Amino acid sequence: MSPFQLTRTLPADATGAALRADVLHGLTRSPKELPPKWFYDARGSELFEEITRLPEYYPTRAEREILVSRSHQIAAATGARTLVELGSGSSEKTRHLIDALLPALDSYVPVDVSQSALEGAGEALLEERPGLRVHALVADFTHGLVLPPTVGPRLVAFLGGTVGNLLPEERREFLRGVRAMLVPGDSLLLGTDLVKDEATLVAAYDDAAGVTAEFNKNVLAVVGRELGADADPEDFEHVALWDREHEWIEMRLRARHALVVKIPELDLVVPFEAGEEMRTEVSAKFRQEGVRTELAEAGFTLSHWWTDEEGRFALSLATVD
Ligand code: AVJ
Repeated sequence: MSPFQLTRTLPADATGAALRADVLHGLTRSPKELPPKWFYDARGSELFEEITRLPEYYPTRAEREILVSRSHQIAAATGARTLVELGSGSSEKTRHLIDALLPALDSYVPVDVSQSALEGAGEALLEERPGLRVHALVADFTHGLVLPPTVGPRLVAFLGGTVGNLLPEERREFLRGVRAMLVPGDSLLLGTDLVKDEATLVAAYDDAAGVTAEFNKNVLAVVGRELGADADPEDFEHVALWDREHEWIEMRLRARHALVVKIPELDLVVPFEAGEEMRTEVSAKFRQEGVRTELAEAGFTLSHWWTDEEGRFALSLATVD
């Protein structure tokens, strides 16, 4: 049997239908909003990779530092024989974890909505680790993910701080969904960016080179290509702000002047007032107590909390109650 297997649990048109629903809902409400998952077409994924190399964007480097120094502890604490990674993307940082878990590791199950990312990552991993079995899943892990039969103990990893893109209620539902696919003896490894001074946070989402601004505006290109919307990125300004009350960063697109966006595929005409802002992303920042509580509410117990040297980012290891 080939060491690489791919299962698609998303119907081929699921992405298109979800985009239409999100755009219709998000642009006809007030205030307007679009969910951040639509940033990530090929260009958006490339821009995000570029963001991870910016001097201002510390989370990726901080998380890698923790993975490099703690992977052996994670392997010893979990004894995982199956590693499931949600939103695996390029699987770049996960290599450290995979290598620490081998040779006990039976299989790596990367889950992502992007089939091309899964194929690329699987190929690169297997080239260097011919003994590994990779069972990639094309799936939307935010809704009712069902795992194929896997050997326990299982470790589910959700890295990068992407859990912060979910709103509190969505996070609750997501963590309960993860808990539902696990049994006692399994564990969860969760990456979260931490609350810190406002200047550092805002700079990470509003870099001097303007890469994050381009990333933010890429959602307009996606809606343009997929639904025929005629929004001109030049008409919008990138906004990144720290919401002190919710302890999250918000990215928005602000209309530079009054304008109208036509979306023929939805038979929709969307007016923007001058200065009107549309929310495109929430990126929540966490504290240990909040993470512990949210995990407990979903049926997990926080067993380890590791941060980088500078205390900017945390990896939490949790066991299933
Ligand atoms: C990939 C979701 C972790 O929220 O920091 C980077 C995405 N947005 N710059 C984050 C992002 C703006 C990123 N995550």
